[in-house]
This record gives sequence, structure tokens and C-alpha cells, in this order.
Amino acid sequence: MSEQGRVVLVTGGSRGIGRAICLALAEPGGVVAFNHFDPDEQAAQATVAMLQAKGVKAEGRKFDVSDPAQVNEYIDHLVNAYGRLDVLVNNAGITQDALMVRMSLEQFERVLKVNLIGTFVCMQAAAKVMMKQRGGSIVNVASVVGQTGNVGQANYSASKAGVMALTKTGAKELAARGVRVNAVAPGFIETDMTAAIPEKVAAVMRANIPLGRSGLPEDVADVVAFLCSPAARYLTGQVLHVSGGLYM
Ligand SMILES: NC(=O)c1ccc[n+]([C@@H]2O[C@H](COP(=O)([O-])OP(=O)(O)OC[C@H]3O[C@@H](n4cnc5c(N)ncnc54)[C@H](O)[C@@H]3O)[C@@H](O)[C@H]2O)c1
Repeated sequence: MSEQGRVVLVTGGSRGIGRAICLALAEPGGVVAFNHFDPDEQAAQATVAMLQAKGVKAEGRKFDVSDPAQVNEYIDHLVNAYGRLDVLVNNAGITQDALMVRMSLEQFERVLKVNLIGTFVCMQAAAKVMMKQRGGSIVNVASVVGQTGNVGQANYSASKAGVMALTKTGAKELAARGVRVNAVAPGFIETDMTAAIPEKVAAVMRANIPLGRSGLPEDVADVVAFLCSPAARYLTGQVLHVSGGLYM
């Protein structure tokens, strides 16, 4: 995998952690593609403009990451247009919180479908390309709650535990072809996803973080960029917690 001109795909790249990852992986001469599932194109267009300002070719497309037909079609398009795929970051994710006794099967299934099945579908499609290339890097975005569980997040925490296991299996299956698979497990990061948390609850969460503050999308993106870089050439199958010490 060459350092210059990498072709990168980030799922859920329109805003939040995904946008920061797109920007952290932007290098002159490279390509950063992302998808999203926002109701409108506003955030996606802003991300494309930010990427172009960094001198990369950028494109964003709206489709559901758990739809195999659209995922395969988009990865085919990238390979046809740019010749290869060097990096996949599976960042797209949703929450639909409820206490377990009140959670509907639909809530459970939808979160599993986007977070876990979506990650599997993208990994599978990208792995076929990367195995042929004999090189590539996949980073999955899990969560600390995949390790710890969390009240109100039976669906989400189970999906993220699944993402961690998928990461390790992918790492074992793809290592011989030069493809590394790792994950980050963010703690409490300031994005649209956490904006709805009442300030009282957020303050308690922050008080439990040894580094004394909630995280920024860039805190996660820098670790993803490291995992995709040659500096991480001897890392695979790892889950790096990016949580200010919340989980250790
Ligand atoms: N914010 C946090 O505190 C936190 C903590 C741990 C893990 N995470 C994980 O980080 C990732 C990004 O979270 P965020 O806080 O930036 O969220 P966000 O809500 O700000 O952004 C989510 C992104 O995913 C996209 N997306 C949602 N559903 C999709 C679908 N079906 N298909 C394609 N794209 C879809 C959205 O369009 C958007 O681009 C998620 O996987 C999330 O679970 C976030």
C-alpha cells in the first residue's frame, strides 16, 4: 500500500467521527470516498468541499450501508474509477436506545443491521478487492460499550461486541494476503449521536473520564489514521480504546 495517493472509503463520512476520519485520511493525490444515510445532502456536500480544499479527489454518495447490492455496486465503481481500494473504515452507526424490557424487536434488528451487518457487508466486498491487491487496511469503529454493556443499549452494545469479534476474524482470515484489520472503540465523543444526551447525564459521564473531558471526533480520527499508516504495519486484530481512559 503506497503512502501517496491512497484510495479510501469511509462509511458514514458526512459528519461527526466519519467526517473527521475522512479529513485525517486525506492526502494530496489521494481519493477519499464516503457514503452516508442523512435525510439531506447538506453535511455530505460540506465534507466534500472540506476534502477538496485539502487537495484530494472526494465523493460522497447516499446509500444504506446494510444493503449489499448498493455496497457492492459502489465498491465496483471505486475500483473501476480509481483502480484500487487501499483503506476501508466502517464508521456508519446508529443508536435506538431503550431499556431491554421495552425494546422492540424492530429496534434490536435495525441497529444490528446497520452496525454489524453493514460492517460485514462492506468488509466482505472490500476484502475481495484487497486480497487480490495483496494489501489494504480495514478499520472498524466499535465502542467501549461493546466491552462493558450499557443501560438502554442492548442492541447497540451487542452490535459493537459483534464488530470487535468480526475485526479479529477478519484479521485472521486476511493477514496472509497482506490485509490488516483493526478496530477503534471510542468512549464519549461529541457528535450529533451524543448531542441528545441531557447535560446532567453528560456531566456524570465526563466525571468518569480520567483525562477529564469528552472526546472530539479528531481524537478518534487520529488513531484511525495511525492504524491505516505504515507505522501500524505490525498491528492486526487489535481493538484500540479511544476513551480518555474511560475503559482500561
Ligand atoms: N459519538 C460517540 O460518543 C461514539 C462513541 C462510540 C462509538 N461511536 C461510533 O462512531 C461511529 C460514528 O458515530 P458519530 O457519533 O459520528 O455519529 P453521527 O450520528 O454523528 O454520524 C453517523 C454517520 O453514519 C451515517 N449513517 C447512519 N446510518 C447509516 C446507514 N444505514 N448507512 C450509511 N450510513 C449511515 C450517517 O449518515 C452519518 O454520516 C458510529 O459507528 C458510532 O456507533 C460513537
